[in-house]
Amino acid sequence: MAKLPRVFVTRRLPKEILSQLDDHAHVDLWDSDLPPDPDNLLDHVREAEGLLCLLTDRVDKALIQQAKSLRVISNMAVGTDNIDLSFATAQGIPVGNTPGVLTETTADFAFALLMAAARRVVDGDKYVRDGNWKTWGPSVLLGQDVFGKTLGIIGYGAIGRAVARRAQGFSMKVMYNSRSQKDMDEKIGATYAELEDLLEQSDFVSLHVPLTDETRHIISTKELELMKESAILINTARGPVVDQGALVKALGNKNIAMAAVDVTTVEPIDAGNPLLSLPNVIVTPHIASASTRTRRQMTQMAVDNLLAGLHGDVLPHFANPEVST
Ligand code: NAP
Ligand code: GLV
Repeated sequence: MAKLPRVFVTRRLPKEILSQLDDHAHVDLWDSDLPPDPDNLLDHVREAEGLLCLLTDRVDKALIQQAKSLRVISNMAVGTDNIDLSFATAQGIPVGNTPGVLTETTADFAFALLMAAARRVVDGDKYVRDGNWKTWGPSVLLGQDVFGKTLGIIGYGAIGRAVARRAQGFSMKVMYNSRSQKDMDEKIGATYAELEDLLEQSDFVSLHVPLTDETRHIISTKELELMKESAILINTARGPVVDQGALVKALGNKNIAMAAVDVTTVEPIDAGNPLLSLPNVIVTPHIASASTRTRRQMTQMAVDNLLAGLHGDVLPHFANPEVST
């Protein structure tokens, strides 16, 4: 019998999905809820023909160079900023990702953060638990309306548009900025705006760009200063899309009213980070796609991509389709 190719899977994932690999590969599973450190990752990838990794695994040029047998990288995420995509492409290694299945779940969460910040849901919960709820009070925990306000979306791709659709139900005016202007095919009614105009006019700004050299710190001091003092910033994209030092200052100086972020510059954020000392920020642990159904679909897609790569087939979901041509 031919020797099965070796694949490294960098995290514990549902067994019944991973078992689909058993007839096709020798699976080296990092059987833990924590990621391998870079040395362990390298040790295990060195001999592997396939890699199923997570966004917590840094698959850089040095790692790819030392993984001489690697034929496919399958990332269980839509974002691929953890991977040196151009080097993988130059090496002819297909990289798979998991777009689409997480779009609505992530958009739900972006909207949940928007609502939670505007209507002080987290403050309200803490207020009750701390025993401060003495009576119904006319000025207790006043927040901002969402209905009828202006939402600015930066990065009008799958998730950005899904957020815009949700905003329709709240009769919001939606503006977007993206690399390219989009057709109005979905009748969402969103209008393209230059970044400066969007920042100046929006009550809520929600980020949905991938992390690239162009989008790193797309929101920094200058952009935060353009925003309204009452504005709320939502980030479910990637931490480094926002200059976190500038955000801490803007929130501290009340240049903007609030932020709600699912992603931070360094993940996990250190408990002593100044961001966490601010009362006007909500921070969640990168869980925007974390519904049971969606995470299963992401796992299945990652397995399908890995198998296709091992068999030399076109990946169902390529992050670097150039390698197939
Ligand atoms: P997508 O469909 O590729 O959309 C990304 C959009 O960003 C595209 O419309 C793209 O424009 C636009 N864009 C790229 N560079 C830009 C720039 N420099 N300025 C303005 N717009 C730019 O991706 P998606 O599925 O919506 O996902 C977006 C990102 O969300 C992912 O890359 C990932 O980092 C993040 N994410 C986070 C979570 C989480 O758990 N927090 C979950 C899922 C996704 P074009 O259309 O012109 O290419
Ligand atoms: C999550 O952050 C993803 O990119 O899928």
